[in-house]
Amino acid sequence: MTKTESVHGIWASRWVFIFAATGSAVGLGNIWKFPYIAGENGGGVFVLVYLACLALVGLPLLVAEVMIGRRARQSPANAIRALSIETAASPFWRHVGALGVVAGFLILSFYSVVAGWVLHYITVTSQGALVDIGQDQATRLFNQLLASPQTLFLWHSLFLILVMAIVAGGVVHGLERATRLLMPVLFALLLVLLGFSVASPSFGQAWNFLFVFDWSSFTWQGGLTALGHAFFTLSLGMGAIMAYGAYMPNKASIGSAAVMIALLDTLVALIAGLIIFPVVFASQMSPDAGPGLMFITLPVALGQIPGGQILGVMFFILVSLAALSSAISLMEPAVAWMIERMGIGRIKASLMVTSLAWLVGIGALASFNVLNDLQLFGLNIFNLLDFLTANLMLPLSGVLVAVFVGWKVHRYISEDELAFSNHRLFKVWYLLIRFVVPAAIGVIFYQNL
Ligand code: PHE
Repeated sequence: MTKTESVHGIWASRWVFIFAATGSAVGLGNIWKFPYIAGENGGGVFVLVYLACLALVGLPLLVAEVMIGRRARQSPANAIRALSIETAASPFWRHVGALGVVAGFLILSFYSVVAGWVLHYITVTSQGALVDIGQDQATRLFNQLLASPQTLFLWHSLFLILVMAIVAGGVVHGLERATRLLMPVLFALLLVLLGFSVASPSFGQAWNFLFVFDWSSFTWQGGLTALGHAFFTLSLGMGAIMAYGAYMPNKASIGSAAVMIALLDTLVALIAGLIIFPVVFASQMSPDAGPGLMFITLPVALGQIPGGQILGVMFFILVSLAALSSAISLMEPAVAWMIERMGIGRIKASLMVTSLAWLVGIGALASFNVLNDLQLFGLNIFNLLDFLTANLMLPLSGVLVAVFVGWKVHRYISEDELAFSNHRLFKVWYLLIRFVVPAAIGVIFYQNL
């Protein structure tokens, strides 16, 4: 039977859940990563393939994660354990949830370092450092940041303290309150920036870049990138969505909430592209700059247009809010798990998780400077954490969750929990989660190995 209460609290309404989960989904992935991978992979066709991956792989898994969370009303690690006991699955399954939680925790530790870069860029942009800046200077500015462990340390610490302050407040007074505050500001900023970009003469060029399909630009590697990103952008495979699902009110429909979350997330990614590319095209820069798009290309472009300074500050504030609402969902699964497992209070648990993530993050930020030479498998600590989590742990945990829900959890449990009004929808979902999702993620996983 579905429980109605969780020890951690319940969202006030279905909409709070939708916005909290959207806050998790909308992050650096949407604003930093999506535009640059779309840029590197030729634009239009990549976007189309990405949308297909979202619908066929991301969405079904999103539904599955929310369902597990809400059914068990516990932290992800314990939720999967509870459900595997309820369905008498083999003891192996009891440990699957922990994989995602550890992955989420590791991601938090370096996500916070990148979020720190964004905070730094709010200050340098507001001080006018980008005005009339050239490509070389912008590159130097970014490299100077990476070369300074003190600056990185400062921003990384500040960001994690913010995350901790929210998570320590609890589901209702921390996460829900932050969602109610952050999400409206985020959407408002997004719309203001979109307004500016629609008015820019290069808007048409950006639009064509993202939405005109030139099949010759499609590559299989691009397809895999799209698939992997569909997964990351919806915060799947690390318990974030499962943890939020545990606090979802009982009567709310999981299917329609999941569709809403995926739609909002996609909308933000596309709008981010429509904000970034007109600026880039207006200053005749190239869209395929890779990870430096946001920290090098965009600053140069901003420095050349009128009002660039204020737009830039708004833009980097937008990104940092998006990163913050994602980071809290990365911390929550581990905190909830410690509370359940060790019987300690939320403040203590948040402090412990934060300290640990802080320490690992210090290793990650030092890999750009003092620990540059420390390499494992040819990767520095930052890249190793990224590779390990995004390329190995997440797909693995995603496949396991799909197989668990599709093949181990009794079908009637899913039918009962999802309560689709149209049974055909259930059948489609069930087919996707049993066959399509494991196969698709299996391919990414194999490729990454
Ligand atoms: N979905 C977030 C993004 O696109 C990243 C994230 C992954 C956040 C997992 C939380 C959990 O940036």
